[in-house]
Amino acid sequence: MTPARLDFHTYEELKERARRVLPPVLFEDMVNGTGRSRTARANETAFDRVDLVPRAAVGWPERSLRTTVLGAEVSMPVLVSPLGALRLVHPDGARGAVAAAGRAGTVAAVSMMCGHPVADVAPAAAGPVWQQVYLSHGYERCAQVIGEARRYGYHALAVTVDCPVSPKKPLGLKVSPSAVLRFGPQLARRPRWTARFLRDGAELAAANEAMGPRKKQTALWSDMGWLKEQWNGPLVVKGVVTADDARRAVDSGADAVVVSNHGGMSLDGAPATVSVLQDVVAAVGSRTEVYLDGGVRQGSDVVRALALGARAVMIGRPALLGLGLAGTAGAEAVLEMFRHQLDVALAMVGVRSVHDLDASFARAPEAWHAPEVVGV
Ligand SMILES: Cc1cc2nc3c(=O)[nH]c(=O)nc-3n(C[C@H](O)[C@H](O)[C@H](O)COP(=O)(O)O)c2cc1C
Repeated sequence: MTPARLDFHTYEELKERARRVLPPVLFEDMVNGTGRSRTARANETAFDRVDLVPRAAVGWPERSLRTTVLGAEVSMPVLVSPLGALRLVHPDGARGAVAAAGRAGTVAAVSMMCGHPVADVAPAAAGPVWQQVYLSHGYERCAQVIGEARRYGYHALAVTVDCPVSPKKPLGLKVSPSAVLRFGPQLARRPRWTARFLRDGAELAAANEAMGPRKKQTALWSDMGWLKEQWNGPLVVKGVVTADDARRAVDSGADAVVVSNHGGMSLDGAPATVSVLQDVVAAVGSRTEVYLDGGVRQGSDVVRALALGARAVMIGRPALLGLGLAGTAGAEAVLEMFRHQLDVALAMVGVRSVHDLDASFARAPEAWHAPEVVGV
């Protein structure tokens, strides 16, 4: 078997390569959003509506991409989003994500639904890790995951608040071998993926089983105190798209918020994340760090998000597809693609450091920045 070539230069190239490696039903499930994928698409296209405003003839021969997130040093403001079902894409799964992020000098957030127990993921970490949780499996299961993450010295806990129910999709995005094997004919056309999956399937099923049954439970603002108590460290609230919710998150104890709509995997119709970023930054940016994910596909998108006030961005599908293409090495290659593109974009807009970016470097549509309605 020849290893996958990792010389892709754009997200589109990566996507095409991954399409040829993954079974079509899996690829479509991961790349599309829910419903008509309006939000998933809008996340990407909204970035095209932000003009970059360059400074000419300033010439910084070296640029600095370094920054900090929640006090942890990172080599660039590009982190990896938590992704469920990662192990379905490639057996490296979340272990690959944390290893790749660590080697790239950045943070990976690990989904509670990634298909690997914390104890399997933690030894692969080569840098700061955030543990993502839902309350979907009840308080007890959540507390167990948090306890494990604490034991392994994870850096932060991220609670996801934008997905109160799981929408149905062809695979349901469940880490379920039986669901995948239903699509037998497709698998025959993807022998490499299938051989890997068949080797890993039983362990994956066991890890899935160990999660226990789903309960009709979702994290509420009133749960933030409980989460903080269990965790006793920095708490990130992931999944706000309004100034009000961002304020609620910070008032409830969040140390940082992620402007996110679950990559369009939750409410189809939610606004594109970059279109609401300025509102959230205006509401809570002086009190806390604000990150963004959804539709970040190239280095210049990172510049746009930072210029509009984000401290860092997170990438979901790019990391997922990199992992699907070539496991840990693929995910690392994706991060290196972002590093290169971000460095070039900084040179092009004419700044020396990611910290020099401000609103004067980006022109977003007027309508995105709705004036606050006070006293109604
Ligand atoms: C296949 C898939 C699985 C996901 N699983 C989770 C998850 O388990 N927990 C979570 O907080 N977000 C999850 N998300 C949302 C991502 O963390 C992130 O918000 C989103 O992918 C960012 O958008 P992008 O994919 O356009 O970069 C998932 C997204 C995808 C595409």
